[in-house]
Amino acid sequence: MPIFVSEFAEMTEHQFLPKTSYTFLESGSVAAQSPSNIALVKYWGKYGEQLPKNASVSFTLSQCRTETTLSFERKQSEGFEFEVYLEGKKEDAFKPKIQKFFERIERYVPFLTAYSFTIETKNTFPHSSGIASSASGMSALALCLVAIEQLLSSEEMTTQHGTEKASFLARLGSGSASRSLQGPLVVWGKHSRIEGSSDLVGTPYPYAVHSNFQSYHDTILLVDTGEKQVSSTVGHNLMHEHPFATLRFAQANEHLEQLITVFETGDRAQFITIVEGEALSLHAMMMTSNPYFVLMKPNTLEIINRIWKFRKETGSSVCFTLDAGANVHVLYPSEEKEGVSKFIRKELAPFCKDGAFIDDTVGTGASLL
Ligand code: DP6
Repeated sequence: MPIFVSEFAEMTEHQFLPKTSYTFLESGSVAAQSPSNIALVKYWGKYGEQLPKNASVSFTLSQCRTETTLSFERKQSEGFEFEVYLEGKKEDAFKPKIQKFFERIERYVPFLTAYSFTIETKNTFPHSSGIASSASGMSALALCLVAIEQLLSSEEMTTQHGTEKASFLARLGSGSASRSLQGPLVVWGKHSRIEGSSDLVGTPYPYAVHSNFQSYHDTILLVDTGEKQVSSTVGHNLMHEHPFATLRFAQANEHLEQLITVFETGDRAQFITIVEGEALSLHAMMMTSNPYFVLMKPNTLEIINRIWKFRKETGSSVCFTLDAGANVHVLYPSEEKEGVSKFIRKELAPFCKDGAFIDDTVGTGASLL
């Protein structure tokens, strides 16, 4: 077991303020890609400025990605100026979220008001798939902004600081986005047993990970591809008055602590218990908030039951997790790929909308293009 080091220097917001004055370019363009991630211990409940009520940990994905090009042109007017294009089409519906993001991050990237921006973005997964694009989208945009800051600054930024700043900014756009910059396992939220963990940024999981967990697959079963029934902002807010909130936050932190041993020893049975328990706890929170929601669909439950049956009959280590919706993430180690893929195609795909699912694997995070 790792030893907790209490002397670890705490990260502060101050570290992410710009260090030098800028030399403004007239115009330019940068591009970045960033993946989605799937939480094993869930973030559900926040306070202050996008700070999590409990620590969370996720597998970074590799196939479900956003690619963003951010072009900038010098302007003299005040305020923010930007246009957003999704797959080449102007997308005004994204503007309020980005406006809010810019307001939150302006003090950390003050060149935001000096330029008129064009944000051109595309996802490798279908927009209508019901997969949250906020984690990949916000982290890709944040990394672009850090790249621009580097272009304008006279002082070199270390790669580590650049990645941390991108995660810091991404968090202010969407909490889970802070976990997409790196991989394969990223922790976000201060946890007393995880050295270097912080409420401000996602950090790579720092301890031993058994080979049993080093090449996982995530097949995302698209059960319901419509608009989200409850936005995550509304969901997180419902945790403020939630009767079980305190216990839930303690449970998540406890689960993360248990995972430290699981990752070290390679205990897949315990991994399954924690990961499936987390998914069901997240949904239990929604079912017991005021107002309450049931985000699973009949097919979500059908799939869960089939996974349990398959595991019982075959001894497989396949398990599921859920986001705040009806889709099911099926997690399994790569040596089981053949058997589980067959099972998914034959037995689970019929419960997906139009039989659709996305095969993904654990990946390494965002990069500049
Ligand atoms: C259920 O990161 O989408 O996916 O910070 O309001 O943008 P905001 O919320 P968001 O919440 C994600 C919640 C979750 C669990 C998780 O990814 O940890």
